[in-house]
Amino acid sequence: MPEDIVIEMSHVSMMFNKSSEKIDNLKEYLIKFCKGNLRFEEFWALKDITLSIQKGESLGIVGLNGSGKSTLLKLVAGVLSPASGTLQVKGNIAPLIELGAGFDVDLTARENVYLNGAVLGYSHREMIEKFESIIDFAELWEFVDMPIKNYSSGMVSRLGFSIATANLPDILIVDEVLGVGDYKFREKCRERMEQIINRGATVLFVSHDQKQVEEVCSRVIWLEKGRIRMDGTCSDVCRAYFEA
Ligand SMILES: Nc1ncnc2c1ncn2[C@@H]1O[C@H](COP(=O)(O)OP(=O)(O)OP(=O)(O)O)[C@@H](O)[C@H]1O
Ligand SMILES: [Mg+2]
Repeated sequence: MPEDIVIEMSHVSMMFNKSSEKIDNLKEYLIKFCKGNLRFEEFWALKDITLSIQKGESLGIVGLNGSGKSTLLKLVAGVLSPASGTLQVKGNIAPLIELGAGFDVDLTARENVYLNGAVLGYSHREMIEKFESIIDFAELWEFVDMPIKNYSSGMVSRLGFSIATANLPDILIVDEVLGVGDYKFREKCRERMEQIINRGATVLFVSHDQKQVEEVCSRVIWLEKGRIRMDGTCSDVCRAYFEA
């Protein structure tokens, strides 16, 4: 992969098994499973995506619901692996995808921060150093020893955002999470993202809001039914997609 390219996808496709019949309960599922009667339909969420993204580039991804945007981000983040094709990613990633999806709700915020750190491969020592700034940014000192299940959804998102961006990443992946939190926290999130971008991070940004895309992105791809319909400058693609 050339020096200045940080993400390279070549003929990447992603398939999910979609159950082609309605199954109402686990018992029915098990009976069908044992009889070998389970029928699945192949569903291609992404088809033959070839894409290179340069260091420092801010790439927007637009497209209708179900067009494959989140699937593409999850492939880059390593949450999913492609069914076919090759994918290379250089650098550490801050994935702002499903904030708080990895939390154990029975544990407190404090416990979850350490758990998350361990999952991300940080030492206990590093996490002790980070812990304070994570809770500071999320403004959750008052609730730090309360189980996450008693948090409001905004509080969960704040903690998720704060953890995911605690280390300045080389690649920032943002999947429609800018709407989280109250207006004050949104402003803080925007500032932190700006900091990360200004430091030269590469950004993948998904949003249904034209203004947000225009604020953040220089280049945009338009996904349609899992394929790239258009790849070009922000203004060209936004005009074609949002204003057609
Ligand atoms: N884990 C999964 N299992 C089965 N199908 C899935 C899975 N994840 C995504 N899909 C399917 O893949 C397609 C693309 O989904 P994806 O979440 O990437 O869309 P999206 O472009 O992010 O849509 P939205 O704008 O609604 O967020 C959808 O049809 C969805 O049903
Ligand atoms: Mg999505």
